[in-house]
This record gives sequence, structure tokens and C-alpha cells, in this order.
Amino acid sequence: MLETSEISVQKVEKSKIKEVDFNNIPFGRVYSDHMFIADYKDGEWTDLRIQPYENLSLAPASSVIHYGQSIFEGLKAYKTKSGETAIFRPKANAARLNKSAERMCIPEVPEDLFMHALKELLKLDSAWIPDQPGNSLYIRPFVFAMDDYIGIKPSDTYRFMIITCPVSSYYTEPVKVKIETKYTRAAEGGTGFAKAAGNYAGALYPARQAQKLGYHQLLWTDAKEHKYFEESGTMNIMFVINDTLITPEAGSTILRGITRDSVLTLARDWGMKVEERRITVEEVINAAKDGTLQEAFGAGTAATIAHIKLIGYEDTDYTLPAIEERKFSNKVLKAMDAIKSGEAEDKFGWLHMI
Ligand code: COI
Repeated sequence: MLETSEISVQKVEKSKIKEVDFNNIPFGRVYSDHMFIADYKDGEWTDLRIQPYENLSLAPASSVIHYGQSIFEGLKAYKTKSGETAIFRPKANAARLNKSAERMCIPEVPEDLFMHALKELLKLDSAWIPDQPGNSLYIRPFVFAMDDYIGIKPSDTYRFMIITCPVSSYYTEPVKVKIETKYTRAAEGGTGFAKAAGNYAGALYPARQAQKLGYHQLLWTDAKEHKYFEESGTMNIMFVINDTLITPEAGSTILRGITRDSVLTLARDWGMKVEERRITVEEVINAAKDGTLQEAFGAGTAATIAHIKLIGYEDTDYTLPAIEERKFSNKVLKAMDAIKSGEAEDKFGWLHMI
């Protein structure tokens, strides 16, 4: 176990917190006072430090800039009703970061380093954790290649950092999505399951084309046939058809979402029928046509539960049932909020209190 003294701390001279309107926070634009940094050199993580949030200085040849050897995570901390700090499932994020790391030839970040850094950073910036319902502190751990070398090989040096930002909802309204049948997010054997920076860069152009047509996001389909649903890029996707919760199985092309797992766990605990399987576009479109598609939503850390109000496919838009009528997604959102705020029992041990 790492000792607190192993992290050197340099505090801000003056906090920026008074400049922030916590009742009106845009997602991902306002950062807390401090950040955590560790550097990987000669096969170990060294120079652990917390310092004021500020710009970085990088060599122009840094391999992350040229070859995108970079991974990240997303998790959230909450203030419970009794004023304590709760982090939601941080060890699941530590584990997933290391799955991504392995795929991208990045050294592992030991779980105790991840947890220790997170706890010390949040203790220092605990005033930044919003207590307004629906708001939270979004935590962004990331690791990137630092070698000053123009050549293709895994870097020898890396940086692990954690920054945090108070946030409200990622999507401010129920989303309109378009089923993507031309471009591909991930193919079997690729990096789709990893939270690799490049996965997101490659998705920008197709998403922008859809946004020009008035959609918020894409529903990605498989690379081979564009026949099976995958994920949405900012979140996993779920459907309720004839009272069964169905979501694409998390194989090598889909991010194994922690919110996805939490939703499936609660649904199973409530006795709902749950299927993790390949699901075709045809099945969902037919269900939208005959009225058996009761709900469609995205599940993700940033997005939480994002109701899907409309699905565009080929040249038709399918409007889904009214949000107020959606029993499962409304119930699961409420249940997760109640666990995070400490109002409901944390039956699955998801909260990590600091
Ligand atoms: C998250 O949900 O944490 C993500 O990383 C998705 C990103 C679009 C904000």
C-alpha cells in the first residue's frame, strides 16, 4: 500500500471555486483546482505529485501526439446526503484502464496507485464535488506516451494523470440517434473494447455528418455487415422490447461500460428478463414499427441514462414512446441516483467512501 507521503503536494495559492456557478455548469469545461501526475521511467511509476491544474509542456515529437498511444477513464464522485464523499465503482475503472493499457502497450497502473492518487486528489478538492441533485464531480484519469522520438514503437516513458471537473448532465435532453450503416467505429480484433483516445477521434467525422442532419449521436453497427448494434460511442445502448432488457454483448468491439454493468445488475436483481446478445437493426426497427419497442436508452458514466427519443434509419425517423411512460429506464436512473446519494442501501458495494 502506498503512503500519503509518497505524493508531494503543491496547493494553489488561491482557489478558483468562487468563480464557478454550480447551478449552471457546462459538461467538461470547468476544472477543479488540482491535478495528479505520475511519470513512468525505467520501468516504474515515479515522482507522484499533486499540483495546481495547469497546462503541460510536451516535446513536439512526443509519441502521443503522432501515434495516439493514449488511454483514459471516466468515473464520478458524489456528495451523499450526509455530506460524505462517495466514488462510484473506482476499482472497476482501475481494472478497465489496465485492460486498455495492455491492448495499447502501455504499462499497468497498479490499483493501489490509482486509488491512492484518486483519494488524495479528492480529499484536497472535496469542495468541488457538487451537491446539487443530478450533478457530480467527473473524474478523468488518463495515461499517455511521452517519448521524444519520431519512430513507431511503444514509448518507454509515460505520464499518468487525473483531472476532475464538476459537471451536470452530458446530454441536456433526450437524444435523437442515427443508425450508422456506412462508417465503422471498431472491427473484431481492433481496439473497440479499449478506452483508447483514437477510437473517439475516428468517430468524429461520421458523428458530425449525423449532427448536421439534426441527430445528437450515432448508433454504431458491426463493421462487417452493418447489421448488428454495437454501442453509441459516448455510451452503451440498451433496448426494452416486450419487457425484456436487451443489450449488445460486450465483445472485442464494444466498451464494457461500468454503468452498463450496473444497469444489468439492477435489472437482474429486480427479476427482469435480461439478454446480452447480438441484436439486429431489423429487430429493433420492426419493434419500433409494431410498438413493442418500449424503451431505448444509452448508459454511460458521463451520459448516465440518456433516453433515446428518436431513431433515424435509412430515410425514416422512428419516434419512440414518451419518456414519462418508460418504466424501466426511469426506475433504474432513480435507483442509481438513490444509491449514489446514500439514500438507498448500497447492496452491491458500489460506493467507495473517502
Ligand atoms: C464517459 O462516459 O466517462 C466517457 O468517457 C464518455 C465521453 C463521451 C465523455
